[in-house]
Amino acid sequence: MPIRLMQENDLAAVMINENAAYDFPWSASIMASNQKRHYCIVFEAEASAKNAGEILGHAILSTVVDEASVLNIAVSPKAQRQRIGYQLMDDILAHALSKNCVEVFLEVRESNRPAFTMYHQFGFNEIGVRNNYYPNKQGREDAILLACYL
Ligand SMILES: CC(C)(COP(=O)(O)OP(=O)(O)OC[C@H]1O[C@@H](n2cnc3c(N)ncnc32)[C@H](O)[C@@H]1OP(=O)(O)O)[C@@H](O)C(=O)NCCC(=O)NCCS
Repeated sequence: MPIRLMQENDLAAVMINENAAYDFPWSASIMASNQKRHYCIVFEAEASAKNAGEILGHAILSTVVDEASVLNIAVSPKAQRQRIGYQLMDDILAHALSKNCVEVFLEVRESNRPAFTMYHQFGFNEIGVRNNYYPNKQGREDAILLACYL
């Protein structure tokens, strides 16, 4: 199974992908504290592949009572568009359901079309906007709040 729980000794590889995937990545210390507190998974290249065991993506979900939040989902740029993000998302939503969550929330940059397209496939809809929430190369941009019922 290419998806497994993130371990502490995965953090260095996860941070390589985090830094490559985002213009404004999490710091290593934020990633480490999330790994301790939340449901964190990684996607490893299949045993039969040339890059067997290489970590290609990660996703992090928090659950509080019956609500879940997607805190992070990223795929190494060299492995994008191979349905890895979709499989990570599918896994964390199944985990949220197993924890009896009824709704899942996330925030996404207004400009992030690849992520929007993926989230819509899972039934997420816009529920709000945080103005000028994220830094970007031009200054700031809005965060769009998305939610879906499980
Ligand atoms: C968003 C992200 C996780 C998607 O991961 P991925 O493995 O490349 O996506 P998948 O191959 O699983 O694609 C799933 C669906 O998302 C959509 N999608 C993904 N990338 C897309 C792109 N570049 N353009 C348009 N649609 C895209 C497609 O609808 C795709 O379905 P399809 O394969 O039937 O066309 C990846 O682009 C990424 O890591 N981006 C940088 C980090 C980031 O922005 N994370 C989200 C923060 S809110």
